[in-house]
Amino acid sequence: MYKLLCEQIKSLTQGETDEVAKMANIAAVIHEAMGFWWTGFYRVKNGELILGPFQGPVACMHIPFGKGVCGTAWKQGETIVVPDVELFPGHIACSSESRSEIVVPVWNADGEISAVLDIDSRELATFDDVDKQFLEDIVKYL
Ligand code: SME
Repeated sequence: MYKLLCEQIKSLTQGETDEVAKMANIAAVIHEAMGFWWTGFYRVKNGELILGPFQGPVACMHIPFGKGVCGTAWKQGETIVVPDVELFPGHIACSSESRSEIVVPVWNADGEISAVLDIDSRELATFDDVDKQFLEDIVKYL
């Protein structure tokens, strides 16, 4: 499924230079194909994460550096897979339905993190190394 998704995203993003437009369609394609609960981006702006293009229920709009799963992935500079959000210290619950989560940093050409891709599931332990690997590949199209 991810292999098909990658092909679709590759052709969708080809030739497009606007980052927000790409984020919007990437979030939509992943969300629709995989049936996740929440799929979206937070962008680094003025020293914090600001809500970007997403699919799913309304979400918190500001996340400080090092806070929640998103802010921690940004601080650590690596993907974080959370099998049970209740066991992640400082998890920010935008929705009480969310049970597991993955956050993947998006790197820009200068080697800095410019955004994170955040995906939530209503089931425990939805994400594993396969999700990590393919989602890390997908954000490279940004
Ligand atoms: N759970 C995230 C906050 C964003 S929502 O899941 C959309 C976190 O702990 O950073």
